[in-house]
Amino acid sequence: MQQFYIQTWGCQMNEYDSDRIRDLLNENNIIETDNIAEADVVILITCAIREKAQEKVFNQLFAWKSQNQYKENAIVCVGGCVASQDGEAILKRVNFVNVIFGPQTIHRLVKMINEVKSGKNKHVVDVSFPEIEKFDFLPAPSAKNKATAFVTIMEGCSNFCSYCVVPFTRGKEVSRGVEGILAEIKHLTEQGVKEINLIGQNVNSYRGTYEDGTECNFAELLYLVAAIKGVERIRFTTSNPHDLSDEIIQAFKDLPQIANSIHLPVQSGSNNTLRRMNRRYTREQYIQLTKKLREARNDIYISTDIIVGFPGETEEEFEETMSLVREVRFDQSFSFIYSPRPNTVAKDLEDNTPLSVKKERIYKLQALINNQAQQYSREMLGTIQKVLVDGTSVKDNTELRGKTENNRSVNFKGDKSLIGQIVDIKITDVLAHSLRGELI
Ligand code: SAH
Ligand code: SF4
Ligand code: F3S
Repeated sequence: MQQFYIQTWGCQMNEYDSDRIRDLLNENNIIETDNIAEADVVILITCAIREKAQEKVFNQLFAWKSQNQYKENAIVCVGGCVASQDGEAILKRVNFVNVIFGPQTIHRLVKMINEVKSGKNKHVVDVSFPEIEKFDFLPAPSAKNKATAFVTIMEGCSNFCSYCVVPFTRGKEVSRGVEGILAEIKHLTEQGVKEINLIGQNVNSYRGTYEDGTECNFAELLYLVAAIKGVERIRFTTSNPHDLSDEIIQAFKDLPQIANSIHLPVQSGSNNTLRRMNRRYTREQYIQLTKKLREARNDIYISTDIIVGFPGETEEEFEETMSLVREVRFDQSFSFIYSPRPNTVAKDLEDNTPLSVKKERIYKLQALINNQAQQYSREMLGTIQKVLVDGTSVKDNTELRGKTENNRSVNFKGDKSLIGQIVDIKITDVLAHSLRGELI
């Protein structure tokens, strides 16, 4: 029996793709191993969002080489966004890579591996964007013992925010057909999945079609998903504020299955910076959206992404971001120092802020965000939360672990038969990175 080893970095889009690769290889009698030294096929699924993420790929490939980790004749495959961005050029840096495939060609992976195995080619590269065809050629996803699952509803992005590499690595925005998405979700819930996480780089601008050719937008899709038997919780990511329509906000009001939290990346609180980023909304419009969301759900948790040190960001502009964080009172959020990316408009903008200043800014921002998130956690003390039990606790496997609607891990005592269920938990303790609770 042939074995494969897979390592995945990057966003949920990559995690979804990796799971589909697992299904595909299993179907072709190549089984997974977590020991790279046993693997006939080694697969690295990569992220190009910042330079550090990209360099990690090359460092890892060489580290495995220098540690003699690759089995003799192992076929080394690189997929994901670095593969897509650099394509054949990867071979110039790492000549022992055999297969280079992109996010849109994962369904061709077996064929590519076989071409190397048969000796026909030493290297095979296919990072093309054949639209959305991969979904038609992948086996139905398996979700054994899983309580939660990602479902990709769209690929790529056409927004071209000036700093972002995604439109170049995943291609232009294309939406998956409605029936295909709904069938996949039904298949998942029949296997016991309770929570569906709809994913795409910009889910709000989803515009799929039914088989008869009529269009369906994201709000409509949410109602269709909520109507599927067994769907107890819906999440979606990522939402671009520019496309967050009133209909989507209304769905928060109408559909209790939608989790009480939204990830709504703002990137900056300064209109000047937002303009240079090509984000196509203002600080005021963003605040207005958060107000509408709170009108729909008065206790919704809003998290965000922020880029610090974008080219030309002044101290005043950074302070506007700080004040927005306070004003919106974001919950747990991600922030990053700007990293210039190939092909993007921003990489040619003048950037004379020293790295030390950018670091100071990000520490300040992260301290504020963490403080606010911790405050939200403290407010949860004594409340009853709906918790999706996803397994046993990391530290103590006699205990269970689950996720609240606002994405916090909770540990509590309970029977293992509850794994995969949504249960009511009273929060009894708030720790730095998790909560403790008891079953009601
Ligand atoms: N589609 C999502 C973002 C996906 S990328 C959206 O539009 O909101 C995830 C996050 O990475 C972004 O929200 C941004 O904060 C960060 N990011 C993207 N490009 C970056 C860059 N060049 N430098 C630093 N951070 C970046
Ligand atoms: Fe990148 Fe902007 Fe598209 Fe998000 S919306 S993936 S930040 S280009
Ligand atoms: Fe990274 Fe590609 Fe996702 S660049 S963040 S893996 S879309």
